[in-house]
Amino acid sequence: MAQKEVDWDLLFDKSISLLHNAADREEAMQHICALLYHEVPHYDWVGFYMVDPLSKGQLVLGPYVGKPTEHTRIAFGEGICGQAAETRKTFLINDVHTESNYLACSPTVQSEIVVPIIRSDELIGEIDIDSDTKNAMGVQDRKLLEAMAKELAKLF
Ligand code: SME
Repeated sequence: MAQKEVDWDLLFDKSISLLHNAADREEAMQHICALLYHEVPHYDWVGFYMVDPLSKGQLVLGPYVGKPTEHTRIAFGEGICGQAAETRKTFLINDVHTESNYLACSPTVQSEIVVPIIRSDELIGEIDIDSDTKNAMGVQDRKLLEAMAKELAKLF
């Protein structure tokens, strides 16, 4: 399985270094997307959805790497991203075709993970990753992304 090819600890260290060296939040998030997209073979779309400060209850597409998506705004509760925003819990979907509340970014997507970024009890946004492989994400992905979300929250 592709997961063997990834050095998860090294990837976390690299992400911390990117966060500390970026000029601003946008750049940090863009660099994180590129790092994850290029270093994890089973990641085919990596992006951020951020809570709209002008319209709470709505997520807005932030920096991403991968094919453009039509889902540039997502209401809380809508799709996997909206459900993660509403519940503030990580959603790990092994097969998106089994989900009734799902927004397709691309027909090639098979599995997805969404990890909320929370600071002082406030939802800031989330990391969203799609894979074109079924059952692509597991415990290592979740652990890395949740640890990264904690670090990212400190930027806000
Ligand atoms: N699949 C997500 C929508 C975002 S796109 O994948 C980039 C969802 O169901 O919320």
